[in-house]
Formats: sequence, structure tokens, C-alpha cells
Amino acid sequence: MDNPFSLEGKTVLVTGASSGIGRSVAIECARLGATLVLTGRNERNLHETLQSLEGGKEHQVIIADLSNEEDVNKLIMSLPPLDGLVCNAGVGKMLPVQFYSLDVLEEVFGINVFAPMLLIKLLVRKKKLKNPSSIVFTASISGYSNVAPANGIYGASKSALSAYMKYAALELAGKGIRCNAVHPGRIQTPLIENRLLSEEDVAKDVDMYPLKRYGKPEEVAHAIIYLLSDAAAWVTGTNLVIDGGRSLK
Ligand SMILES: NC(=O)c1ccc[n+]([C@@H]2O[C@H](COP(=O)([O-])OP(=O)(O)OC[C@H]3O[C@@H](n4cnc5c(N)ncnc54)[C@H](OP(=O)(O)O)[C@@H]3O)[C@@H](O)[C@H]2O)c1
Repeated sequence: MDNPFSLEGKTVLVTGASSGIGRSVAIECARLGATLVLTGRNERNLHETLQSLEGGKEHQVIIADLSNEEDVNKLIMSLPPLDGLVCNAGVGKMLPVQFYSLDVLEEVFGINVFAPMLLIKLLVRKKKLKNPSSIVFTASISGYSNVAPANGIYGASKSALSAYMKYAALELAGKGIRCNAVHPGRIQTPLIENRLLSEEDVAKDVDMYPLKRYGKPEEVAHAIIYLLSDAAAWVTGTNLVIDGGRSLK
């Protein structure tokens, strides 16, 4: 019997494939048979991801800053028809509410929300998403729970992304395009490591997780693979939480 979780024969575009969760998604997708298109800004890191991929497939790297319209247009033109899209690129910014500025709001919402919305607009218009195909967004539990001081811009952006996912799921279902989001808790990646939290703060934070540890990038990748695969053929418009039980508290 065929494995419904296999990605054999599928071509998947991963944004933010140069680091963290996106790199792990690419590696795990290749392991399950997919051909990958990796995108991000950092060429060296993208090539490191490329070199980690199994499978002897024709994986490729396309450098693009998703906040740059010209880069996005070039990316769209170079893409093969896609069975899967993982909208994973994202940025975080810690800022108390009284220090918000339009520049920072535009920066975070620009990458976390506007970039996937505009990318999908172009992919649909240029008929780059096959029927059937699957889009998965990397949102965050910060979008609806795990409310922490100074994380409001990021949390609001992930909440907006999750709301958009539902509208896209409804509107694109007729084209055979499924849309879903994963909501990770803290995952050990550069995004977290760069926060310079003290060991004591990290220990207190980890203690808030019923499973008593942060997540691993591949644990998010496996959930994304389920949503990309035929095993989720009747799943659209859903939010899948992967947080070691953090949002139970
Ligand atoms: N780590 C966590 O605890 C956690 C929890 C919940 C959700 N998430 C979400 O998971 C996703 C991946 O995060 P991560 O932890 O893996 O972070 P990361 O290691 O910092 O990776 C972020 C990725 O986004 C890409 N990116 C950022 N700005 C970009 C731009 N302007 N154009 C194109 N690509 C851009 C980066 O690529 P380049 O540097 O090559 O441009 C990088 O590959 C994000 O959406 C994040 O919000 C993370």
C-alpha cells in the first residue's frame, strides 16, 4: 500500500529555508521524497541547506528578499509548478507598546503577513500552484496565547497570518489548494537563541511547558509534512498547535 505521508513526486517551495525551522522542513521533506525549491536571502546558508538534502533530486536555490517586489517577481518566474508551499520566513521583534513605530510595524508585518499574502496572490495568478496542492503557514502560539511582555507586534502579526489562512483556505478550495497553519511554541532555533535570555529566564520559561523542554525544528517539520501530504487531503483551514502543551496553561 502507498504511504499517504510520502512526498514522492511532489515539488515544494520553502521560504526561510536558510535557517531553523525552514531548513529542517526542507531536510525532512527531501527525506520523504520531495523535490525542494529553497528560498531566503542568505546564499551561503541556503547552499548549506541544499547540501544537507537527501535524494539525488533536482533541488534548487532561489535567492529572494520577500520584502522586495522585484525579487518576488523573479522568484515567481523561476518556479516550477508546485504541489506544496511552506510560508515559513518570519522575523521577531521585542518592543514594549509605548515604543512601537510605523517602521517596525511595517518591517514585522511586511515579512510575517504581507509577504505570504502577496506571494500567494502571484502564485495563484500565474497558476504555479497545482490542483491539488497544499500551503502551510508557520504561525505561532504567540498569536493567540502565550502572551508575553514586549511581544505584541510579533503576536499580532502571527494572529493576522492565521486569520488570512482561513480566508485563503475558503477562497482557494475550488482550485484544489488547501491552506493550513502550524502554531509552534518555542523551538530551539537562531530566532530564539538571539534573544539573549539569561539561563535562569530560560529555565523558568521551559518550566511552563508541560513536556518540560522546548521543541525541536524537526518536530515542526513533521507536522508540516503531514499537512503537505495526501494524508491531509481533506484538511483545510485548520490550525495545528505544536507546543509541548504550553497553551494548556
Ligand atoms: N523558533 C521559534 O520558537 C518559533 C516559534 C513559533 C513560530 N516560529 C516561526 O517559525 C518561522 C521560522 O523561524 P525560525 O525560528 O526558524 O527562525 P530563523 O532561524 O531566524 O529563520 C528565519 C528565516 O526567515 C527568513 N527571512 C527573514 N526575513 C526574510 C526576508 N526579508 N526575505 C526572505 N526570507 C526572510 C530567513 O532567511 P534569510 O536570513 O536567508 O533571509 C530565515 O531563513 C518564523 O515564521 C517564526 O516566526 C518560530
